[in-house]
Amino acid sequence: MGTVLIVYTTRSEETKAIAEIIGEGIRISGHNAEVKRVNEIKSEEDLKGYDAYIFGSPTYHGEMITPMKQLLFLAERAELNGKPGGSFGAYGWSGEAAGRISIPWLTFLR
Ligand SMILES: Cc1cc2nc3c(=O)[nH]c(=O)nc-3n(C[C@H](O)[C@H](O)[C@H](O)COP(=O)(O)O)c2cc1C
Repeated sequence: MGTVLIVYTTRSEETKAIAEIIGEGIRISGHNAEVKRVNEIKSEEDLKGYDAYIFGSPTYHGEMITPMKQLLFLAERAELNGKPGGSFGAYGWSGEAAGRISIPWLTFLR
């Protein structure tokens, strides 16, 4: 059994709702899941020690919102290389954020 860290940011709570559903699905599948709002992650130390990571941000003006960019900088320093990663986010029409969040996992965190 592993523990998955889900971190989300949101403006109007839709992405929070998705985060909680993902956490519930992970628990139903027999693993542990911790769901945290991005401001609970104060330093790279808060990211260490999990078996997998899923980050979520809504899309506004074609992008993830700033707190998620700051989280990705922490992730860069937290030595998560090789850990599984996923992404998600609420959106209205174009939904760029989730794809952008996954890029570190496909490049320098591989
Ligand atoms: C000012 C504004 C800009 C938005 N820009 C986009 C956008 O570029 N692409 C998109 O898919 N959705 C866009 N949306 C829709 C939001 O992503 C959508 O409402 C989403 O559910 C908000 O998630 P949240 O509740 O987690 O903040 C925009 C919404 C607002 C109010």
